[in-house]
Amino acid sequence: MSYADVYQSWKSDPDAFWMQQAEAIDWVEKPSKALFDETAPLYEWFVDGKLNGCWNAVDRHVEAGRGSQVAIIHDSPVTGTVQKITYAELRNRVALLAGALRARGVEKGDRVIIYMPMVPQALEAMLACARLGAIHSVVFGGFAAHELAVRIDDAQPKAIIAGSCGIEPGRVVQYKPLLDAAIEQSAHKPEFCVIFQREQEVARLIEGRDYDWHAFQYGVAPAECVPVEGNHPAYILYTSGTTGQPKGVVRPTAGHLVALNWSMKNVYNVDPGDVFWAASDVGWVVGHSYICYAPLVHGNTTIVFEGKPVGTPDAGTFWRVMQDHKVRSFFTAPTAFRAVKREDPDGLLLKTYDLSALETVYLAGERADPDTIHWAQRMLDKPIIDHWWQTETGWPIAANPVGVELLDVKVGSPSVAMPGYDVQVLDEAGHPVKPGELGAIAVKLPLPPGTLPGLWNAEARFRKSYLDHFPGFYETGDAGMIDEDGYLWIMARTDDVINVAGHRLSTGAMEEVLANHPDVAETAVIGVSDPLKGQMPVGFVCLTKGVNRAHDEITRECVAMVRDQIGPVAAFKLAVVVDRLPKTRSGKILRATMVKIADGEAFKMPATIDDPVILDEIRTALQTVGLARETA
Ligand code: COA
Ligand code: AMP
Repeated sequence: MSYADVYQSWKSDPDAFWMQQAEAIDWVEKPSKALFDETAPLYEWFVDGKLNGCWNAVDRHVEAGRGSQVAIIHDSPVTGTVQKITYAELRNRVALLAGALRARGVEKGDRVIIYMPMVPQALEAMLACARLGAIHSVVFGGFAAHELAVRIDDAQPKAIIAGSCGIEPGRVVQYKPLLDAAIEQSAHKPEFCVIFQREQEVARLIEGRDYDWHAFQYGVAPAECVPVEGNHPAYILYTSGTTGQPKGVVRPTAGHLVALNWSMKNVYNVDPGDVFWAASDVGWVVGHSYICYAPLVHGNTTIVFEGKPVGTPDAGTFWRVMQDHKVRSFFTAPTAFRAVKREDPDGLLLKTYDLSALETVYLAGERADPDTIHWAQRMLDKPIIDHWWQTETGWPIAANPVGVELLDVKVGSPSVAMPGYDVQVLDEAGHPVKPGELGAIAVKLPLPPGTLPGLWNAEARFRKSYLDHFPGFYETGDAGMIDEDGYLWIMARTDDVINVAGHRLSTGAMEEVLANHPDVAETAVIGVSDPLKGQMPVGFVCLTKGVNRAHDEITRECVAMVRDQIGPVAAFKLAVVVDRLPKTRSGKILRATMVKIADGEAFKMPATIDDPVILDEIRTALQTVGLARETA
């Protein structure tokens, strides 16, 4: 079947299409139908089926006689270790951890926060929750205590599972003080914590609250898989919105497993037994879907890579891992390739490795710039596939479905809509625009299985953020176009979300932090173009009347505050003091115009601007920090 046939077969009978895909996973009770639309525009999938996520990711492969296949390879250049875990071992480890959690009272529906570095235990913790029907919420290690506290208060976890530390190049990041501070700050308190102690940092445990990972599991009975309803939340993953309060994206169990399993062959073109590697982090959606669940559900070997594209130890790390483990499909963010390209533009290190097992490379998480794609094509001589999706969807909205048919690659486009997604470009009034015209990218409801049915305990916010603006559609928050051939082109976000090194960040959240500085009266954070990270946040602060402290002292404090409250991942390194911010007459800050000035792009003077002179002041301020580029 061609891509067109597959897409058409979904379009002509979506229920039959998804029921057929659902055959590929194990059910305790099969669902009677795929789509449940009684509560439209809130939709759910496979609601009356029963199944277990951990069974599908682990046990069923053991039952099928594949227990000795490697499930997880932990390749950790930062600790100089490689560890392999078979499916049978994984089943035993996960069943024991689940048994220990159950013995301490964790049950179906309870939330468990996981705050761990890139170690196999992070996946084991996720799977142990899935085994019990507990809902996990993984928090990325680069977030600070405050962000963790916000998530604790929203998810109200019964337990927290954490590592004692993460390892960043050149420094050990102690997680335990961050965890303790977060629990101190949060109104909700977990009943207990489980700490996986690493030899690089042995954390001090609080008696009565904290348990050592190993001691915790000693002597407990392994837990069996608990069947859950198809729409039971597998996890909550918080992602950046326009405010400091992150959005708790809910992932339903059945749709998630069905859609991810479909994507492994049809998008990523791997067969059970193949090695698949997504070089991301379990704290992001790519890690949830394509380090943990999808490869395991599909019976692949997944790689948990604890390192960076460069510096651990060099820009050949990616190629070394691909060679050593015979990776067939590889997935990373464009920023990682830009980092490698900067250090080894001619691929001298690459030439020393055997990449004969590698067939295809996938990029997502941010716009894949043509320079990077061309470089990767030249270096690797393999298809470089850009694909587009979001935390909310959990799997690709648009891709080149290599396992179905390798379509022509149009550099700069993530190719075409996947089955399940009727992607349309709309004008402000919600009418579809002509091919080639720019507009807001929206997906006609219902979204396919695996996508978010809502936000955790926030239905009104869910409707407001995604459904209200274009009735009958899901608003993606991205703008772009669809060309005559049906290829999508993603141009920009329509909100205040920025993308720094493939990490989704909220400028609104940074503004909230800066506004708390005692000397700051008003602030605006924008994302300016950066050749390595795609975008970088820059903060503008107006000082409270009468403050006459040294500006560089104040901006240093601003930088430290964002690092301290959001975390190093915010990569907030630059703040400048300005007298005023450019605004419309109604008081709206002209952030988009400020970005254009910083990026040296031509812009039209906004008709509603209050005082155009302020734009010159902004340009001068950017010049002082070396950021204003010549206007094109
Ligand atoms: N725990 C603690 N700190 C972390 C962290 C983690 N898990 N991840 C990142 N940080 C820290 C970094 O050490 C850095 O700290 P610093 O300011 O002291 O240098 C800061 O957060 C910013 O990190 P980052 O933006 O990632 O920059 P970097 O210079 O460390 O690395 C790249 C740049 C491009 C190599 C890196 O961003 C990368 O590999 N990106 C891939 C993106 C990716 O996997 N995205 C996921 C979606 S697919
Ligand atoms: P996240 O939820 O962190 O995965 O971020 C999703 C956002 O990243 C999308 O809404 C886009 O803005 C951006 N994004 C992801 N993949 C791509 C891509 N292939 N091209 C352009 N932007 C992308």
